[in-house]
Amino acid sequence: MGIGMGNLKAMFLALIALIALNQGLVNANFYKNTVFNWGSKQSSISGNGEDLQLVLDPVTGSGIASKRQFLFGSIEMLIKLVPGNSAGTVTAYYMSSTGSKHDEIDFEFLGNISGQPYIIHTNVYTSGNGSREQQFYVWFDPTADFHNYTIHWNPSQIVWFIDGLPIRVFTNYESMGILYPNQQGMRVYSSLWNADSWATRGGLVKIDWGSAPFIARLGRFRPRACKWSGPSSITQCASNSIANWWTSPIYSKLSYSQMGQMKWVRDNYMIYDYCTDFKRFNWNMPPECSKQTF
Ligand SMILES: *[C@@H]1O[C@H](CO)[C@@H](O)[C@H](O)[C@H]1NC(C)=O
Ligand SMILES: *[C@@H]1O[C@H](CO)[C@@H](O)[C@H](O)[C@H]1NC(C)=O
Ligand SMILES: *[C@@H]1O[C@H](CO)[C@@H](O)[C@H](O)[C@H]1NC(C)=O
Repeated sequence: MGIGMGNLKAMFLALIALIALNQGLVNANFYKNTVFNWGSKQSSISGNGEDLQLVLDPVTGSGIASKRQFLFGSIEMLIKLVPGNSAGTVTAYYMSSTGSKHDEIDFEFLGNISGQPYIIHTNVYTSGNGSREQQFYVWFDPTADFHNYTIHWNPSQIVWFIDGLPIRVFTNYESMGILYPNQQGMRVYSSLWNADSWATRGGLVKIDWGSAPFIARLGRFRPRACKWSGPSSITQCASNSIANWWTSPIYSKLSYSQMGQMKWVRDNYMIYDYCTDFKRFNWNMPPECSKQTF
């Protein structure tokens, strides 16, 4: 007994449709896939929906949220941060679910006075608990041009990328009782706001409103991710089906050369790591810290 040609063709078409469905929003743009959830008046979308300006003025900041929620995949954004004196401003770009037991994966960009370095702040929350901050300077001027900030998230690990270089990994150690964000769909958010109580030199440097309005530019929003449609997505998005490219073994850990790239970033640009903050944890370090191999 064989499979007829017609059947094969039907299976092939079904597979293509499934891949297209699961890979989701390949032609995503801000118009179609996000809404302003804050300060829409002074902010704007242009360039066929590809470009977004977030604006912070003395009256309000601004922000967007994706219409959809996702569970696993890759979220990609080009960002050109607030130039000049950006002290006290924070541009945030993150994924989050809702509720007191929420999961969250963060990129936050803490501004500075002209010529002084931005801090790139990262964190991950599981079931409402964060406290896993790592911070970096960058090897370029993030206000001079657009750079690619990507969150890659699958059942095995979360990887934060800047221009293709992995800067941080959070590995799934659920088998050791460490929570991992894999049960809740998350929306993608981006916002620009006043955080001068803490952002720049720990809050010492305040916003210079004379430099307002502050403008961050974002582009090429690309969620190539599994669409969340309720709890049934938990197994569907994690399954090893061929349509779920993010579960392919090559994404389950970094390659040898990516490990080298990450080591270079961390050796040269990492300025804070919760895993070496012994005082904060009173020498009782979070269990995942002893697992890090870099
Ligand atoms: C952005 O970086 C991600 C992760 O390395 C990569 O997959 C993607 O192709 C990059 N996008 C652009 C426009 O360079
Ligand atoms: C701002 O510049 C100061 C001085 O160079 C530096 O200590 C600090 O880490 C920089 N970044 C932020 C966000 O405070
Ligand atoms: C929250 O996470 C941190 C970092 O892993 C850990 O040290 C802390 O014990 C956790 N707190 C709770 C209440 O689970």
